[in-house]
Amino acid sequence: MPTPHISAAKGDIAETVLLPGDPYRAKWAAETFLDNPRLINEVRGMLGFTGTYKGNPVTIHGSGMGMPSLSIYANELITEYGAKTLIRIGSCGGMQTAINVRDVIIAMTATTLSTPSRGIMKELNFAPCADYGLLEKAVAAARAKGTPTHVGGIYSSDVFYDERPDLTEQMTRHGIMGVEMEAAELYILAARHGCRALAVLTVSDHLLTGEALPSQDREKSFGDMVEIALEAAF
Ligand code: ADE
Repeated sequence: MPTPHISAAKGDIAETVLLPGDPYRAKWAAETFLDNPRLINEVRGMLGFTGTYKGNPVTIHGSGMGMPSLSIYANELITEYGAKTLIRIGSCGGMQTAINVRDVIIAMTATTLSTPSRGIMKELNFAPCADYGLLEKAVAAARAKGTPTHVGGIYSSDVFYDERPDLTEQMTRHGIMGVEMEAAELYILAARHGCRALAVLTVSDHLLTGEALPSQDREKSFGDMVEIALEAAF
């Protein structure tokens, strides 16, 4: 303490951590939704803030893009700072015609080709899944807000610029709702360390229709996702 990537002091990080990929979204979410947010990390520009939500301590910390980056922050938050509940908040690409941009997807499972944990899993195809208690509370919060929300499987990819349309087609055919790049490793790390994890995602673009969320609409759509994650946590 501090760790190679987090300069916070021991008590500076809450047991509940929201993890957006983008450090500036961590700043926006903390300043918008938390009381008394204060900066607790800025190593490599990966901003983290701690404040309270309805009196409960919460940290909102960037994870970076992709599973290797998320793995660094989640490992240090769990093993060095005692994080117990980790909720990814981020964007994803829609993969079903019944799912629209701005909708929220709550990820029950996360399919992958591989993860940073592949090396220890060896021949095992481990099934990364969300914490059920968090999932249930997130669904209830989304219903209460009236946010169009889908619950099911997502795909955690290692690439944003995909060269395998055949694979996308197979996943769509098998009901995968959206693609992002972090949730599977978060679920695996939570399982390994006895923590709770969930991913709440906003559909920012659509693989089947080519539609993308205009930048002026992003704030409101992402705000619903942050509130759903915060309500799920407590
Ligand atoms: N995150 C948001 N949109 C995405 C996409 N199309 N592919 C991977 N990650 C994403």
